[in-house]
Amino acid sequence: MNYRHAYHAGNFADVVKHLAEVAVLTHLAKKDAPFAVIDSHAGRGLYDLGSKEARKTGEAHAGIEKLKNLPGPLLLQRYLSLVAESGAHHYPGSPLIAARMLRPQGRLVAVEKHPEEAALVKDVLALWRKARVETADGYARLAALLPPAERRGLVLVDPPFEAPDEFEQAARTAREAYRKFATGIYLFWYPIKSDAAGNAFAGEILAGGARKVLRIEIALAAAEGKLGRAGLLVLNPPYGFDTDMAAALAPMAAKLGAQTRLDWMAGGP
Ligand SMILES: C[S@@+](CC[C@H](N)C(=O)[O-])C[C@H]1O[C@@H](n2cnc3c(N)ncnc32)[C@H](O)[C@@H]1O
Repeated sequence: MNYRHAYHAGNFADVVKHLAEVAVLTHLAKKDAPFAVIDSHAGRGLYDLGSKEARKTGEAHAGIEKLKNLPGPLLLQRYLSLVAESGAHHYPGSPLIAARMLRPQGRLVAVEKHPEEAALVKDVLALWRKARVETADGYARLAALLPPAERRGLVLVDPPFEAPDEFEQAARTAREAYRKFATGIYLFWYPIKSDAAGNAFAGEILAGGARKVLRIEIALAAAEGKLGRAGLLVLNPPYGFDTDMAAALAPMAAKLGAQTRLDWMAGGP
């Protein structure tokens, strides 16, 4: 295992991904109908921003730590208050954010391949009866977990992109997942090393036939060799998601010194 999210938790890309997660879960929790959250690459769930990993890269310092007490619209405030629940020196990962937003009608399945990380996220989620952790390959498990019995939910796919063929594997998995659960809301996160690579990944996912796809990108001036740009493909975004995200991202991006871009790749508002 090379990739460890502890080096990157709370960075410029994490905050956008988690803001989008909060926007989707706010929407799902509005109705009484049951919903499922499936997090295929869950990580450890809670990150110590004072750890040697976090201090080594300083990514959270240039990310979430700049956003504390930032004024802005409701979505931004909701996200920041969920982060603040972990205390000033910790940052919640996607499964913990989801667990905190589960309503009685929601449940969470968090899949994490690496046993050490999986053991940690199990501890973090131990208080939530409706949250389950699987120590498994998230790509393989998605096929089995979809469609969820509730036929309503969020699927978050957030791989480390460390294997040479991981873009292909992620895109293949995305197409297969969409085929099984075409009404689900999906968040696919990916790093952008070049326009061509980012567009190719988005194109591979679009080839699965999704009819409503919003792309969100964030870019930050980064040191040589460091990731400075990331994307999020949102399949079936709920009504109003694009305007809520744009409004919350504006103050965030200004504070981070980042640029963000939202564009519809298929369908529209
Ligand atoms: C980018 S991190 C996830 C961060 C998390 N989603 C969050 O937002 O807090 C990717 C995680 O995927 C795990 N991982 C790597 N390969 C995996 C696989 N095939 N299936 C499931 N998890 C995997 C890594 O150990 C790492 O914890």
